Amino acid sequence: MKRRLISLFLLTMMVVCTQMGCAAATSEKKNTELGGESEDNIAGKKVGVCIYQFLDNFMALFKDELEERLVEQGVSEDNIEIVDSLNNQNTQVEQVRDFIQKGVDVLIVNPVNPARADEITDLAVEAGIPLVYVNREPDGDEEDRWVDGDYKVSYVGCDARQSGTFQGEIIESLGFDAVDLNGDGKIQYFMIEGDPENIDSQYRTEYSIRTLQDASWELECVGDEIGNWHQETARQLMAKALENDKDIEVVFCNNDAMALGALEAIEADDRKVGEDIYLVGVDALEEVIGYVLDGRMTGTVFNDYISQSHAAADTAINYIKREKVEHYVGCHYVKVTAKNAREILDKIKK
Ligand code: BGC
Repeated sequence: MKRRLISLFLLTMMVVCTQMGCAAATSEKKNTELGGESEDNIAGKKVGVCIYQFLDNFMALFKDELEERLVEQGVSEDNIEIVDSLNNQNTQVEQVRDFIQKGVDVLIVNPVNPARADEITDLAVEAGIPLVYVNREPDGDEEDRWVDGDYKVSYVGCDARQSGTFQGEIIESLGFDAVDLNGDGKIQYFMIEGDPENIDSQYRTEYSIRTLQDASWELECVGDEIGNWHQETARQLMAKALENDKDIEVVFCNNDAMALGALEAIEADDRKVGEDIYLVGVDALEEVIGYVLDGRMTGTVFNDYISQSHAAADTAINYIKREKVEHYVGCHYVKVTAKNAREILDKIKK
């Protein structure tokens, strides 16, 4: 009897061990499939980030907020590497190759040239590394490729058409007669564009004007120049335009850095925004919100880097966790005038 009991015990142990072995093998297999680590181990995952240029005021805000969010979501600070692509496409491609070689688990890229994003997509897809583009949207054909190929590639950002429309609406809300300072029945405007290759520039330029045309305002373009998102370049362009044309009534800038440059030139020419000329930008940089409150700028549009960077970090983490991720993750702009400027200021100063 005793011997039978011992045999039964041994048999049970064998079955249990075999099953445990099987479970261990399954878990080992699962871990191998996941690259040897559980997807829940977020702290141990590596994130490689390329920013087109650290010098850009807006991207500097975005970058810091992105890093903070990644850490908040559990990624270890030591595993986040953020590099400056120095506005050079080749440098950025090399940086992506380097990240791939280092075995990052996810890439976040603010492309230098969104029209050449396919180069970066191909590298990431070939290496099997998910990729999140931010701020500069690749074109429609490129985005279609991600869907058709079921690539782990997404874009997180706003629709720049909305920011252009909001710029137009800020001017429209002042009323035609108030804006037509010289009373000639049409609005003379000067446009300062960012980078003509960038969809944000293209749409902001197009939609700010289209909004006023749709409101049946007669417009006259007295100049449309490229400021490359840059304050000093815009200052020079504005100074020249004011020298040549005394009748500019509205200045549209594709971003706030350039609006700050335009403001310097306007004030150096002894003109007052709100009395002699109107000026709008995009981004809602802290300094610009202050000027909107003081009346030194007509308005701006909040380019919500907080929501955008958080959504980008969360999208990257969802890829790591193998959760369902959309190819397009959109955010909203907010119109900023003296009425709500304080509220936006509180939001970004939090
Ligand atoms: C911002 C600009 C910035 C550009 C960089 C735009 O969304 O409005 O300020 O220079 O992104 O790509």
